Amino acid sequence: MSHRISLTQYLIEQQREHGHIPAQLRLLIEVVARACKGIAISVNKGALGGVLGSAGSENVQGEVQKKLDIIANEVLIEANEWGGALAAMASEEMDSIHVVPNRYPQGEYLLLFDPLDGSSNIDVNVSIGTIFSVLKKSADHPGVSTEDFLQPGHQQAAAGYCVYGPQTTLVLTLGHGVAMFTLDREQGSWVQTAIDVRIPEDTKEFAINMSNRRHWDAPVTRYIDECLAGKDGPRGKDFNMRWIASMVADVHRILCRGGIFMYPWDKREPRKPGKLRLMYEANPMGFIVEQAGGAATNGLERILDLAPTELHQRVSVVLGSKNEVERVTAYHRESRTGT
Ligand code: AHG
Ligand code: MN
Ligand code: MN
Repeated sequence: MSHRISLTQYLIEQQREHGHIPAQLRLLIEVVARACKGIAISVNKGALGGVLGSAGSENVQGEVQKKLDIIANEVLIEANEWGGALAAMASEEMDSIHVVPNRYPQGEYLLLFDPLDGSSNIDVNVSIGTIFSVLKKSADHPGVSTEDFLQPGHQQAAAGYCVYGPQTTLVLTLGHGVAMFTLDREQGSWVQTAIDVRIPEDTKEFAINMSNRRHWDAPVTRYIDECLAGKDGPRGKDFNMRWIASMVADVHRILCRGGIFMYPWDKREPRKPGKLRLMYEANPMGFIVEQAGGAATNGLERILDLAPTELHQRVSVVLGSKNEVERVTAYHRESRTGT
């Protein structure tokens, strides 16, 4: 790319020339990007900033919170609550929604986030990230409640993630393709480094936590065993495997070179539909992946069409290169219908 533009320029062009976003949404994205910059600074300081280790508390899902989970959550709340674009926020790290306080103007958008994705990687200096989803609040009633957030993913106005890795990269969709921005630390600005990102439809790389194999459902075992059989198996080609244990980093690799990511339902806790959360992990990632030409299902249905019933609900996730996701989904459907 010879002519590089900043995130601000990109957003203004999207607003002015293409009419893709209203001014309030543009401001909201800018603020989220600024918050991610702040989180990146804390992440980079690591042990020097005293930000590693456990916070000694648990979130609503019973997971031990790391100091950075809480720091990232606070950075996002503080950055976003006063700008006037939002009515309320929801986060993996908060039991219930955070309504914008009365002292600030109420906007028309709702922001959901996983402030720090890949928490188990914080203390070992492996890529982690922030995931966010933007919804529009229905205008047909005053005030805001949890029900306002329970919209299917195809209604997202925007979604994105920031990966804190060797580079700090922000990936964004406004529903018209996917763009990537890399943080230029000297300039302190986000510079566009990829436009119209496309995920190859075919792949030879899968991402799944193999240690759970004995707990999987039959269609998942079938698919992965076929990949493992390589050239001599039914797929007739060798597959490679990657598992970073940060969804952001695994999805980012898939956006860059293709692949399939799966965190399926398994028998460890059969009543839970999966490990990952629908509203602030699967929906935003599903939106981004689809906008890049990939696919995202829960094994049977399109993730973006699921009707949420709870803020923190979990979901089985299969996403990435289209033909592989369709294959896994077909295996699940066959096992349901017995065909
Ligand atoms: P979080 O740190 O926000 O709780 O999310 C972690 C998720 C996801 O990023 C990753 O793909 C998965 O958990 C890893 O799970 P395992 O440790 O079971 O492999
Ligand atoms: Mn997460
Ligand atoms: Mn998290």
